[in-house]
Amino acid sequence: MKVTVVGAGAVGATCADNIARKELCTELVLLDIKEGLAEGKAQDMMQTATLLGFDTKITGSTNDYSKTAGSDVVVITSGIPRKPGMTREELIGTNAGIVKGVCENILQHSPNAIIIVISNPMDTMTYLALQSTGLPKNRIIGMGGILDSSRFKYQLSQHLQCSPADLNAVVIGGHGDTTMIPLIRMATWNSAPVSQFLSEAEQQQIVQDTMVGGATLTKLIGTSAWYAPGAAGAALVESIVRDEKKLFTCCVSLEGEYGQKDICLGVPVIIGKNGWEKIVDFELNAAEQELFNKSAEAVRSMNDVLKTL
Ligand code: 2OP
Repeated sequence: MKVTVVGAGAVGATCADNIARKELCTELVLLDIKEGLAEGKAQDMMQTATLLGFDTKITGSTNDYSKTAGSDVVVITSGIPRKPGMTREELIGTNAGIVKGVCENILQHSPNAIIIVISNPMDTMTYLALQSTGLPKNRIIGMGGILDSSRFKYQLSQHLQCSPADLNAVVIGGHGDTTMIPLIRMATWNSAPVSQFLSEAEQQQIVQDTMVGGATLTKLIGTSAWYAPGAAGAALVESIVRDEKKLFTCCVSLEGEYGQKDICLGVPVIIGKNGWEKIVDFELNAAEQELFNKSAEAVRSMNDVLKTL
């Protein structure tokens, strides 16, 4: 099994680090346009192999895509991250060109790869990847909902003073501060609805804090977060290469599911060896469906910007 991570910045390197530690593949390639960056980080990670006990062989490459040839899964993290006060959407002009170019280069050498998109604005970059490559829709997966759901569980665990591992909670919709939809009605603490333990005000607070989870970190750190985004990318790779059939919320192409089409948006999907294999219908109530439709509207107008670039 061979995996490539494009972009050796904080998110890409953390994702690669997680992939190696979990031995998700025999060969892992880290690629970046910045001279020496990927080679350096790959070497640094390889020097943890005996300490951490993994056998994955990590190599770095400065923009030489021939090194990525025959990859089964490719994670795209390339592009500029957001600065404090910036929305993910403001990155579109720069990142669209980068993501399109990366997809072309990748497919030249790995025509059968499953592509995971992390670059922001993620929903639009996933749509762009799908449109520009013409790949079967199941092979393009946007990483957003899995990360936002993890942040949602963190917020819930802080209020409930419980282990996040005992929580079941998902975020659907866009991966934007105003477009994501934490489905609090369906969130459970070991099968019991969290609404049994939290006031309405607390629930609203949790939803709000989840939605600005990334922005809060960007403000604190000075740039976009990387530990959870990198780990979320690796969790997707894991479910693909081990054919785990895990249910994650991911940004995928909708063709009428959840009432939307010609858009990539976060919904619950099964992730396995074929990429995203099936969309699961969570049967939204009217209020949730309205939020989903509004989220789609916002993402669609972002996608329209692609036509002007
Ligand atoms: C985040 O939310 C990188 O978009 C990513 O932190």
